[in-house]
Amino acid sequence: MRIHVLGSAAGGGFPQWNCNCPNCDGVRRGRIRASARTQSSIAASGDGENWVLFNASPDVLQQIRNFPALQPARALRDTAIAAIVLIDAQIDHTTGLYMLREHRTPWPVWCTPGVREDLSVGNPIFGVLAHYAGIDWRALPLNDRFSIDGAPGLAFEALSLTSNAPPYSPHRDKPQPGDNIGVTLFDAASGKRVFYAPGLGEMEPHVWAAMQRADCVLVDGTLWTDDEMIRLGASSKTSRAMGHLPQSGPGGMLEWLDRLPRATRKVLIHINNTNPILDEDSPQRAELIARGIEVAFDGMEIAL
Ligand code: MLT
Ligand code: MN
Ligand code: ZN
Repeated sequence: MRIHVLGSAAGGGFPQWNCNCPNCDGVRRGRIRASARTQSSIAASGDGENWVLFNASPDVLQQIRNFPALQPARALRDTAIAAIVLIDAQIDHTTGLYMLREHRTPWPVWCTPGVREDLSVGNPIFGVLAHYAGIDWRALPLNDRFSIDGAPGLAFEALSLTSNAPPYSPHRDKPQPGDNIGVTLFDAASGKRVFYAPGLGEMEPHVWAAMQRADCVLVDGTLWTDDEMIRLGASSKTSRAMGHLPQSGPGGMLEWLDRLPRATRKVLIHINNTNPILDEDSPQRAELIARGIEVAFDGMEIAL
């Protein structure tokens, strides 16, 4: 199995267009050692030819240009993307669908009924796209292994996460099963597993069990501290209220990752532009290195 990180940043990207936090201003001026990052998406392949896109980021066109494997050029209009899986209905994970409207046949989009509802009512992307390529909705099952047509060599199993629905959703602050999911990707040949959850608000027992079974975890790296956005004056919400477990502090992501087997590859993804781990010379980044935790970057490849 190959995983290619297309976009490793949270919503807004890095640097965020209107942000002058120490990271965004620092990377723009070349004052800190850090790489720009596009918004949250990965691609996965079992055969290196056919790919499943996880999330359709607003930056998807740039991400496709940066990863030529997604354009095999077998026909006048072509793509190596066989299907799209949405892990939630957030803007940073779904607006890229608009950019992919020229697809020649309806897009197979795998998501839960709750996400489909949000993308049909609150933010009716699916309705708008019916006038273009159209959406061929595939009900994404929870707690049951499934495969995706056109993606040989891979199997998937999704689980529900307690996180948060998008601000426009009727479920906002009233989480319902399926608003946010984590996905285990299985390689059919090697049996290896990757657990992917860019929006993980609470470490529930079933989530922890999936993480312990994985060979590699690609998990929520949004914010370092729970009150990071509040202290910066960028938002009034805590990390947990936004559906993201912070890394530091009691019960934070680092404590959990420390308990995983040594051999498990541990990668933080969906990193918000305010997060000090983006600065490669920060003490927080040094702490991750000491703990054996990686920070995803655009173009990162994981082969299992
Ligand atoms: C989130 O996961 O909370 C998002 O990145 C927010 C957004 O896209 O605006
Ligand atoms: Mn997000
Ligand atoms: Zn910023």
